[in-house]
Amino acid sequence: VSLQPCNTFGILARAQTLVRVRSVDDLHALRADPVLGRQPWLVLGGGSNIVFTGDVEPVVLKMELRGRRLVQETERAWIIEAAAGESWHDTVAWTLAQGWPGLENMALIPGTVGAAPVQNIGAYGIELQDRFESLDAIDMATGQAFTLDAAQCAFGYRDSVFKHLPAASTAEGLPRGMGLAGRAIITQVRLRLPKPWKPALGYLELERRCAQEGTTQPSAQQIFDWVCEIRRAKLPDPAVIGNAGSFFKNPTVTPEQCADIIAREPKIVHYPMPDGTIKLAAGWMIDACGWKGKTVGQAAVYDKQALVLVNRGRGENSVTGGEVMTLAKAIQTSVYERFGIRLEPEPLVV
Ligand code: EPU
Repeated sequence: VSLQPCNTFGILARAQTLVRVRSVDDLHALRADPVLGRQPWLVLGGGSNIVFTGDVEPVVLKMELRGRRLVQETERAWIIEAAAGESWHDTVAWTLAQGWPGLENMALIPGTVGAAPVQNIGAYGIELQDRFESLDAIDMATGQAFTLDAAQCAFGYRDSVFKHLPAASTAEGLPRGMGLAGRAIITQVRLRLPKPWKPALGYLELERRCAQEGTTQPSAQQIFDWVCEIRRAKLPDPAVIGNAGSFFKNPTVTPEQCADIIAREPKIVHYPMPDGTIKLAAGWMIDACGWKGKTVGQAAVYDKQALVLVNRGRGENSVTGGEVMTLAKAIQTSVYERFGIRLEPEPLVV
């Protein structure tokens, strides 16, 4: 099976077996299958945060569970629930159309609802964890369904319990903080949209838009439209140019390390974090090293946003995972030599 249509980078890769999962029962049937039930598996949502560096041996589980609904409305919030296979952006647009604001800052993030908690997606000042209520998952080792709240998901910056492998010694049960990668599959997610709604305008580009439009109280729909415009202006549309969003995480350093770097690189873009650390703009550092527009084979650094690597090819001419990783390694080396910072890839490299 070709995986090219299943990854937004458009990388040419193949899988032995691809299973379309449309219900929780499909997962139980898979576990019970005498052949497939014994094989390792890899979950794929929208394929928007993954880089295939070769053909995939595990069984690919393409999550296609659908459905979304309002589960509860109280004086303090709307709680909505969406199945793992729903499109994230369509779900954001649907909540706004229903009159339930709160997800607008995260408009146009590619991918599925089930993938959102895995890397705690975020944009324009709001992260999934700020709107998260709970999720349901299946423990593929035992077949048990279970529910996790935000604390149990151990959300961090582009991180959660679903990105970490289970510790071998604690393979029984599912205690808090244990890695669930390769073990649990998210089936549905509940989001809490707080009342009264307040606009989240902390991000510089949104502040700017408010000033331009002469308002301090934009509607949720206006913020949604602005976020879509900002993203379309600097992030390539994967339907047109293959990519996986930001290719590197923004690294965090201590205030002392940051002061050191600023002494050498006064213009470096940096943001203080609530926990006292400082986040550096990886895109700025890559840009400063002169990478915009540079290529390795069909892999290129996007010319409007240096943090994004893109596929210059299409169809049979597409980029290979090897080209992407060669370009990524060259960028990591040059950023390390100039800034002393090791950039970490943001998508899952398989
Ligand atoms: N910058 C440059 N040159 C570049 C790119 C960025 O100078 O080529 C500067 C910008 O001018 C800005 C700073 O770096 O001052 C940060 O750039 P930007 O605001 O575009 O955000 P980012 O750090 O590139 C992060 C997320 C995005 C998210 C945006 C908006 C990560 C890894 N990326 O990008 O998330 O949409 O903020 O909140 O945290 C993703 O995860 O795939 C993703 C797209």
